Amino acid sequence: MTVLILPTIQQDSDNSDFTQRRDMMEKATLIIDGKTYELPVVVGSEGEKAIDISNLRRMTGLITLDPGYANTGSCTSSITFMDGEKGILRYRGIPVEQLAEHSSFIETAYLLINGVLPTREQLNEVSVLFNDHSLVHEDMQIFYQNFPRGSHPMGILSAMVNALRSFYPELPAFGEEINITVIRLLSKVRTMAAMSYKISRGHKVVYPRPDLSYCANFLNMMFDTPVKPYPMDKDLVQALNVFWILHADHEQNCSTSAVRLVGSGRVNLYAAISAGIAALWGPLHGGANQAVIEMLSDIQKDGGNFRRAIERAKDKKDAFRLMGFGHRVYKAYDPRAKIMKKMCDKVLAKLNIKDPLLDFAKELEAAALKDDYFIEHNLYPNIDFYSGIVLRAMGIPTNMFTVMFAIGRLPGWIAQWKESIDDPKWKLGRPRQIYTGPKEMQYIPIDER
Ligand code: ACO
Repeated sequence: MTVLILPTIQQDSDNSDFTQRRDMMEKATLIIDGKTYELPVVVGSEGEKAIDISNLRRMTGLITLDPGYANTGSCTSSITFMDGEKGILRYRGIPVEQLAEHSSFIETAYLLINGVLPTREQLNEVSVLFNDHSLVHEDMQIFYQNFPRGSHPMGILSAMVNALRSFYPELPAFGEEINITVIRLLSKVRTMAAMSYKISRGHKVVYPRPDLSYCANFLNMMFDTPVKPYPMDKDLVQALNVFWILHADHEQNCSTSAVRLVGSGRVNLYAAISAGIAALWGPLHGGANQAVIEMLSDIQKDGGNFRRAIERAKDKKDAFRLMGFGHRVYKAYDPRAKIMKKMCDKVLAKLNIKDPLLDFAKELEAAALKDDYFIEHNLYPNIDFYSGIVLRAMGIPTNMFTVMFAIGRLPGWIAQWKESIDDPKWKLGRPRQIYTGPKEMQYIPIDER
């Protein structure tokens, strides 16, 4: 079989928006065994192109095969743009650097979910709603108390978010009320995360305070105790704001795709988000921030021998990878990691902390970036490389790091879920496969085997 894909005439105008571009598609010509098929080419607003193969099987009897979906666009989306070669990340068109400098996490969440920045009145309205919906049903505490000691907070969070459906069953599928569900989820998840930490330590739960901002409230719920009030520090509150803004969305990554796929079966929002939390937990994805600290601690135990880690990462017989390095999309420095690295220095200086893990991280990074293997493979630090050190300095325990990521990613998951639900062309997610098992054979009764 011969297969040829040829691009055909470009018809485009530079100032056309995406809707117009979609109607003025280029075409790709596919030739299979001498027969020619024309496939539409979809062009995004930043000029990215995709061959639309949604009718390929009907036309040709063939499907495409792409393990890990490295070359597959699962949807069109107007939420987040990233260019992995140039190290660009924008939410609704706004560079993440600008949002990290000027915005708040709640404002960024609003932007992602609603598509535009809020006015002052809208932001105030949302803040009031956040306060109104910040408490968690008291009966939920009983669940927390009965998880076995040592349970990972990500497993608990995923289960409890799913359980929210039982406590707030009036969840609508569509319409105005969905806004309340979204606010409820964003506000309660933060309370639930802090609550799980307090309960795991055997401490009294601290309730949210209406006079505190979203981030300040979280720190207070985590660290305030009846004997030692939490000394609120505006720089730390700002650091948390930036941390969550940087995590707020990252287009069709593993956990977001899980949310979209699970959501495509039209489950409720809580169930879809719970799936996202479970997907984020893995060390190749959001769990990398915990894995980085574990790796740096091992280097510390090994007398600071970071070169051994580099050699192991390069050894194909060793499954070890440099955690916090590499990315499916970024083949340049992750723009979020740049901001995180600067923040790391700032937070440690502010708190007057000297963390040897930060020194190992910097030495490791400098050595890896000069190493041929890492250069050839385009491996740069990703967001998780420095984020764990920032969280450690704030006093967040290591096993809560991925929970911190999950709280930050929540607006992105919600925005992507909402976009998919609202898309009239959205279908049930159901990939195909190429079967490689045995051909048809007869059942053999047990005594004859
Ligand atoms: N250390 C050493 N080698 C690496 C690393 C690494 N961290 N990452 C990729 N490579 C190598 C692979 O061994 C492979 O080499 P080869 O082509 O010689 O066989 C090549 O680079 C490509 O690797 P893949 O796994 O095919 O690339 P993929 O795009 O699937 O990987 C991933 C992306 C999973 C993030 C990978 O870089 C990795 O495992 N990194 C460490 C874990 C991590 O930091 N994850 C967080 C990512 S950010 C996030 O999800 C929030």
